[in-house]
Amino acid sequence: MPRPFNIIAACAENRVIGRDGRLPWRIAEDFAFFEKQTAGSTVIMGRISYATWTRAAQDGRHAIVITRDPSLARPNVQVASSLTAALVLAEAPGLPGEIYVCGGESIFAEAMLLPQAAKLYLTLVHAEIAGDRHFPDWRATFPRELARRDSADAQWRYSFLTLGR
Ligand SMILES: NC(=O)c1ccc[n+]([C@@H]2O[C@H](COP(=O)([O-])OP(=O)(O)OC[C@H]3O[C@@H](n4cnc5c(N)ncnc54)[C@H](OP(=O)(O)O)[C@@H]3O)[C@@H](O)[C@H]2O)c1
Repeated sequence: MPRPFNIIAACAENRVIGRDGRLPWRIAEDFAFFEKQTAGSTVIMGRISYATWTRAAQDGRHAIVITRDPSLARPNVQVASSLTAALVLAEAPGLPGEIYVCGGESIFAEAMLLPQAAKLYLTLVHAEIAGDRHFPDWRATFPRELARRDSADAQWRYSFLTLGR
């Protein structure tokens, strides 16, 4: 039986997660939540998401980057050629904490189809935002709201949701 993993993402009401290779918002509270939630864990992400997250392999995280470029490997950073291969690496004994799948677009879509996707930590930004990367429709797979905290900054209203199957 494969080990359960979590998905962690932030998306707008229209499911936008990215624009021009970056997040379409700067929400300090959400980024702090993301880093705290994944600290001490094994994090899986695509090459572009990894390139934008300078602290991916810090704070006790072990990063597994999905890429065709093996030269990205370094201490605390492994590379894998697919999500399936990344999940196999993530199950190795000795890797820290829980497993979090951190994007981007096609990796979220593939992860959501797997039965071992146990929980979704979703920051829902209450706005329709222009973008070129999207989160898959999650509501049928993760219908149960396990926790919710509403918050806001000067520009955005958002909710931290913990969702279960
Ligand atoms: N809001 C959020 O929660 C969130 C989270 C993550 C990312 N984002 C945003 O999303 C965007 C980045 O995501 P993205 O979807 O463009 O890229 P990505 O998934 O981070 O990276 C794409 C790269 O990953 C590798 N890859 C992905 N799927 C693969 C597969 N099935 N098999 C082999 N290699 C695979 C390839 O790397 P190679 O070309 O090296 O082979 C591909 O070019 C940015 O705008 C970022 O800010 C948002």
